[in-house]
Amino acid sequence: SSPPESQTQPQQLAAAEHGLESVKRKLCRLVASSLSATVPGLDVEPMLEESKAGFGDYQCNNAMSLFSSLRGSSDANFQNPRAIGQAILNNLPPSDIVESTSVAGPGYVNIVISSDWIAQRIQHMLIYGIKTWAPTLPIKRAVVDFSSPNIAKEMHVGHLRSTIIGDTVARMFEFANIEVLRRNHVGDWGTQFGMLIEFLFEQFPNWEEVGNQAIGDLQSFYKASKEKFDNKESDFKVKAQQAVVRLQQGEERYRAAWKKICEISRNEFESVYKRLGVELEEKGESFYNPYILPVLEELTKKGLVTEDKGAQIILIEGQSALIVVKKDGGFNYASTDLAALWYRLNVEKAELIVYLTDVGQKLHFHKLFSAASMAGWLPDQNEYPKTSHVGFGLVLGLDGKRFRTRCTEVVRLVDLLDEAKSQCKAQLIERLTENGKIADWTNDELDRTSEAIGLGAVKYADLKNNRLTNYTFSFEKMLSDKGNTAVYLQYAHARICSIIEKASKDIDELTTKASITFIHADERALGLHIIRFQEVLEQACTDLFPHYLCDYLYSLSEAFSKFYTSCQVVGSPEETSRLLLCQATAVVMRQCFNFLGITPVYKL
Ligand code: ARG
Repeated sequence: SSPPESQTQPQQLAAAEHGLESVKRKLCRLVASSLSATVPGLDVEPMLEESKAGFGDYQCNNAMSLFSSLRGSSDANFQNPRAIGQAILNNLPPSDIVESTSVAGPGYVNIVISSDWIAQRIQHMLIYGIKTWAPTLPIKRAVVDFSSPNIAKEMHVGHLRSTIIGDTVARMFEFANIEVLRRNHVGDWGTQFGMLIEFLFEQFPNWEEVGNQAIGDLQSFYKASKEKFDNKESDFKVKAQQAVVRLQQGEERYRAAWKKICEISRNEFESVYKRLGVELEEKGESFYNPYILPVLEELTKKGLVTEDKGAQIILIEGQSALIVVKKDGGFNYASTDLAALWYRLNVEKAELIVYLTDVGQKLHFHKLFSAASMAGWLPDQNEYPKTSHVGFGLVLGLDGKRFRTRCTEVVRLVDLLDEAKSQCKAQLIERLTENGKIADWTNDELDRTSEAIGLGAVKYADLKNNRLTNYTFSFEKMLSDKGNTAVYLQYAHARICSIIEKASKDIDELTTKASITFIHADERALGLHIIRFQEVLEQACTDLFPHYLCDYLYSLSEAFSKFYTSCQVVGSPEETSRLLLCQATAVVMRQCFNFLGITPVYKL
């Protein structure tokens, strides 16, 4: 005869395919239904949040504001907010998620989630995979425009932030079953090319033969040509300006030199992306060049483009105008961005387009999006397609100033990653030596582990902050094994894995055969935190704030510590149930690591 699970499996599978609704969404629907029974005809948004007072797991806060908005109206048959709270409670439809409810204070409705329900939800995830906890978002395709350094100029820490945050945004969307077009909008079409090409021709007449060696390090090459460009005595500047025109007119020799310079830059960028494990597709500024004229024509026809002292501009309400054609007739950053936006909306058919740059570009994007709205490309605020500028603050050095090495030089990204790795390695070796474990490690293991921890630490130190704020870059802080750091989290995760290993049980078998039950309060608290994963992710995707994930991950590891302190796992009568809880914690932690681009380490 077939095992009992097989009867429920098809149903569960169907749920898995469609994804499950987050706990919060489910509760919101219950509250919404109660609200429409409590105050019929009033369209009230449920106000639901995690309980802070500890009377329940979630609390509904609608009563107070409903009372004040009802005051004086004919519906005012409630004595006080608490009476509304009681009515909301009474009208909650019965549900297997809810264990109990109560009204507290001035009318908060506290909801306690059923422990059995929490346990079943975790077990379901363990059986069908964490993908069943993918959030449901209303779009199918998004463009994430991130990293986007400028050719021949240095890729600085600002670009590192853009790369790290952008990758996390892309990963969250991908998990939510959104097709993500990861776009590297590299600056490969600026006026700097005139100067670079002219310098190349002058310094290395035979550049085609000597190739990459001629240019060598692009940053020094850029610096040298800029020096020449800024020298008022020479006629280099004029020649450089002519070179831009010849390049843009498509003259063969200039195109070839441009290509070469881009290629060298690209190789440098690629090495950073590879190291960081970030995938990106380059569609640089030059790609959109052919679209600029027709797009500007469309905008002109719509009456948006006006002339101003020889330049073409789009007037933006409450702001300075957006210049779309410069006085000299050339296109600029904004003209390219208009063409790119048009392309993303009409050719790539993206429903959401997010741009990751420092907050300094906020105004540029505000003007760009306003122009697009005026052109009728973007609908009203609450409808798709949508655009969003995901801004971030500066990276500061320990001196509180913009992060640099020495006094003027910008930090080279690869050096920075190398430094994180080597400090990590030294720490790891010291720790292993102290514990007498160093002999168990091969050199290769040490190397790979330090790379994973070091790079993870750099990424996490960035992602854990509210992106809008500046953050201070400190190796010491990010590599500490205490507090909210990736190093601490790596140790926490490795410890959970070693607990599971110590039990030497077949976890997959346990997952389908055993079940989870909560005996201790800390056990249940951990379980509740685990199932909140989905709503946290949903919120992070909506607000585009990766630090929600970091906060969640850190408090998950704290909840685990608490559980592990008060509940024996291996060798206890509750061993199987607790092992499943350990496994679920590890699975969720790894999924969060994955969003943050951190490679988990198992042996530590
Ligand atoms: N290259 C620009 C910079 O380094 C960032 C480009 C951002 N993307 C865009 N579509 N404008 O500041």
